[in-house]
Amino acid sequence: MTARLIDGKQIAASLLADVKERVDERERRGLRRPNLAVILIGDDPASAIYVRNKTEACKRAGIASVSHILKTTPTEAELLALITALNEDDRIDGILLQLPLPAPLRPEHIIEHIVPTKDVDGFHPYNIGRLAVRRPALRSCTPAGVMTLLHHTGVPLRGLHAVVVGASNHVGRPMGLELLLAGCTVTTCHRFTNDLRTHVASADILIAAAGKPHLIPGDWIKQGAIVIDVGMNRLANGRLVGDVDFSEAEKRAGWITPVPGGVGPMTVATLLANTLQAATLRSPS
Ligand code: GUN
Repeated sequence: MTARLIDGKQIAASLLADVKERVDERERRGLRRPNLAVILIGDDPASAIYVRNKTEACKRAGIASVSHILKTTPTEAELLALITALNEDDRIDGILLQLPLPAPLRPEHIIEHIVPTKDVDGFHPYNIGRLAVRRPALRSCTPAGVMTLLHHTGVPLRGLHAVVVGASNHVGRPMGLELLLAGCTVTTCHRFTNDLRTHVASADILIAAAGKPHLIPGDWIKQGAIVIDVGMNRLANGRLVGDVDFSEAEKRAGWITPVPGGVGPMTVATLLANTLQAATLRSPS
């Protein structure tokens, strides 16, 4: 058996086209284009690439963006003051604070300062809480993007055993909540999990989000499982690989995402869908 590939690039492109259509339609009704404020701090090259990808995708979807690129690390008070100004600016619909933040800035503390209605990353505890109580508002981009990929397989998700490997605040935890909302039985594995292999082997849906290259050997995968690899790990030779050993896993899985070209483009497309959603919440007519 060879797994069917879940083409994140193509699915993200169609989501972006849909966002563009809805943005254009809003404009025809006299509403302004959604506007995303992007904050990038420091000189992390990977973050600079992510931000460039996001602002280019904004252009393609007809969404305006304003970048705040801070080469020297501000104090926490200065950063909070910038966020307050963006929170209060009626022309801004969404605020994206690119992570990781340089030390000593405390990401979770600063994220809480973003007004939840402009939290297009879906990281604010209010938005995570809304997902936990089955009333999602702005959803975390990567987990929501993964759900879009899962729905694209056409496989009914209710009752399936979903195993999430990785329990980070921004991916693993909200991912578990999304899968629970979709009716899956959810197991979350993390660094203290005993016998990871047994959990992985029992997964109908495996979401690998540990950020460890090839953590999961292909022969652990259950026959026919849906495998979503959130990992994006750069090896010393420059190659980008996921958390799952793809070449072996594709022989056993029913469906699988590639790295790159799987989850990555979905995170960006979902961010833009969230920015449009935030704009719509603020000016619904
Ligand atoms: N850094 C890596 N991925 C992300 C993301 O999805 N959002 C933000 N804000 N920062 C990131």
